[in-house]
Amino acid sequence: MDKITIKNVDRGYRVKRGGKRAKEFVAIKGVNLTVKKGEFLAIVGPSGCGKSTLLDMLAGLAPIRSGEIFIDGKLMSGPDLDRGIILQGYALFPWRSVRQNVELGLEIKGVPKKERAAISQKYINLLGLQGFGDRFPYELSGGMKQRVAIARALAYDPEVLLMDEPFAAVDAQTRETLQDELLLIWEKTRKTIVFVTHSIDEAVFLSDRVAVMTVNPGSIKAVVDIPLPRPRNGIRTSAEFNRTRQQVWELLQNDPAALRVEKSYAGGQDVAELIYAAAAL
Ligand SMILES: Nc1ncnc2c1ncn2[C@@H]1O[C@H](COP(=O)(O)OP(=O)(O)OP(=O)(O)O)[C@@H](O)[C@H]1O
Ligand SMILES: [Mg+2]
Repeated sequence: MDKITIKNVDRGYRVKRGGKRAKEFVAIKGVNLTVKKGEFLAIVGPSGCGKSTLLDMLAGLAPIRSGEIFIDGKLMSGPDLDRGIILQGYALFPWRSVRQNVELGLEIKGVPKKERAAISQKYINLLGLQGFGDRFPYELSGGMKQRVAIARALAYDPEVLLMDEPFAAVDAQTRETLQDELLLIWEKTRKTIVFVTHSIDEAVFLSDRVAVMTVNPGSIKAVVDIPLPRPRNGIRTSAEFNRTRQQVWELLQNDPAALRVEKSYAGGQDVAELIYAAAAL
């Protein structure tokens, strides 16, 4: 059964340049994608191809002006606690302790205090944060902050987790640990997960399918099935893992539009400007 259906979604931004009249910049165009209930789907693509734009739209944080998004077959019209969001950079409330951060969604839901405490403790333990409930975000390491963000999203029991490069800011070793933990949690809870990442390895290791996006304008180029068995412990060194990784890598490499944008980063130029130029060719 489809949990999320994205139908022909476009998104433009009005961009002003040097006092000229604002013109519409097409960030994503004609995006069609379905995510099955309980599926782990990763989205990869070059910088600026619209991954975050798409995720914000799924979260209901960005308006949908063209096209439709359905959750459980119902037209989605805005943010809701049925979707938990985990963004890059943690986005924890600095004045709230770990426990108070984890309880945020439960407070909004009106869950009574005693029940809230029991639920937050369960997720604090699940994410290995025992003993840190009364600490504040500034007293935590990057990996721990990321765990709090995941605990906070899980605590109010959303059916869908939307994750935008959640592990990008942590070191490689912590990242692998967090990936393993996320898979364990997913196997236990079977939530539907949409996971944006720059890392092909991460996408292949975690997901059932990988959607590869392209730029100019942002759209889905291909959706690759990941045929690797689960559980995935130890799979990173296997030949099948490398083969699948190579397949996704080639889809990204053989994309002239993507290369143009990557080059623009190397030259330190304004990316949007370059995409305009590319669009005019
Ligand atoms: N508020 C905005 N106003 C104008 N243009 C925007 C705005 N937000 C995003 N864009 C443009 O839309 C395009 C897609 O941006 P988006 O942030 O979705 O890309 P992304 O794939 O998430 O990139 P990254 O991998 O760097 O995070 C980019 O070209 C960006 O410059
Ligand atoms: Mg992004």
